[in-house]
Amino acid sequence: VSLKNFNTFGIDANAKYFAEISREDELVELFADEQWKQMPRLILGGGSNMLMVADFDGLVVRLNIRGIEHHINHDEVHVEAGAGEVWNDLVNYSVNHGFAGMENLSLIPGSVGASPIQNIGAYGVELKDVFESCRAFEIATSTFRTFTNAECKFGYRESVFKSELAGQYIIVSVKYKLSAIPQLNLKYGAIEEELQNRGITQPTIKDVSQVVSYIRVSKLPDPSTIGNAGSFFKNPVIPIEQFTALQQKYPTVVNYPTSDGNIKLAAGWLIEQCGWKGKTVGQTGTWKNQALVLVNHGNATGKEVYTLSSQIIDSVYTKFGVILQREVNVIG
Ligand code: FAD
Ligand code: EPU
Repeated sequence: VSLKNFNTFGIDANAKYFAEISREDELVELFADEQWKQMPRLILGGGSNMLMVADFDGLVVRLNIRGIEHHINHDEVHVEAGAGEVWNDLVNYSVNHGFAGMENLSLIPGSVGASPIQNIGAYGVELKDVFESCRAFEIATSTFRTFTNAECKFGYRESVFKSELAGQYIIVSVKYKLSAIPQLNLKYGAIEEELQNRGITQPTIKDVSQVVSYIRVSKLPDPSTIGNAGSFFKNPVIPIEQFTALQQKYPTVVNYPTSDGNIKLAAGWLIEQCGWKGKTVGQTGTWKNQALVLVNHGNATGKEVYTLSSQIIDSVYTKFGVILQREVNVIG
């Protein structure tokens, strides 16, 4: 099976076996067969955070479990969605119902089921701020369990599903806690600026959602025309001492203090300073408006993109002594 239409990088790689799951009991049925249980497997949502560098010699399990429900309890709103729902459809559902909390996470590609995996985040909000719990299938035991927010051990682009429990669970649905009373999060300067440009003084969650979507479209390439997986690397977090030395040498270094006393750098800035922004290398390159995004100009192979990412890591390390880590999941 070709995965070209199942990953937003548009990389042409094949999977040996492919299963599409639309109901929870189909997972039980599938993994009752030892053959599938023993085989290397890849859980697939929208394929918007992965890079296929080789064919996948195993079983791809694509989550297509649907459904969105909500119930209102005074000011609190609980919204539950199947793993296969499109994340941005859920955001629109919530915004249109007047349920606040997800509006800053508008237009992030991908599925509901993947939203906890790397604790998706944008414009001052992270998934963990609205996540209540999720239901997941444990492959080894063929049983379902619930993970609370604390049990997910969310961090910046991190969760228990990427660390200790990597590869062990398949998320089938996620419950979110939203609010009927909006508490807007406008701490990202660009949002306030754009609201002002539009003459909006009393913004609604719909305004925030529209403004965030507008800003994103201006910076990020649309995967339907230019293959990409968003930020290819994480923004690196370094100790304050290392930062102070770096800032002496590069006074304009973009930085954000973190709550634990370290400093987060803008990987896009570091990459741009190394001369990579907008550069094309064969069929791949970095995006002209955002150096942190690697792109497929048409027929790139996963290996080509991966090689470019290694060259970028090397040059950022040579110039700044900072090690970039990939955010994108490299398969193969
Ligand atoms: P996939 O790419 O299919 O999978 C990602 C990982 O999760 C894989 O390891 C996969 O095995 C695992 N996985 C997927 N579904 C499940 C499941 N149900 N159970 C268990 N494991 C599962 N991310 C942000 O955080 N913030 C952004 O602002 C952002 N902007 C982006 C912009 C663009 C243009 C693009 C292309 C990507 C962007 N991303 C961003 C990355 C991406 O949207 C998120 O990581 C998203 O959550 C991936 O969802 P997916 O369904 O496509 O996951
Ligand atoms: N910058 C540059 N050059 C560039 C790109 C960025 O100098 O080529 C500078 C910008 O000027 C700005 C700073 O870097 O001062 C930050 O840039 P931006 O606001 O575009 O955000 P980012 O840090 O590059 C992060 C997330 C995005 C998320 C945005 C908005 C990571 C790895 N990326 O990007 O998430 O949408 O903030 O909150 O944390 C993703 O994870 O795939 C993703 C797109």
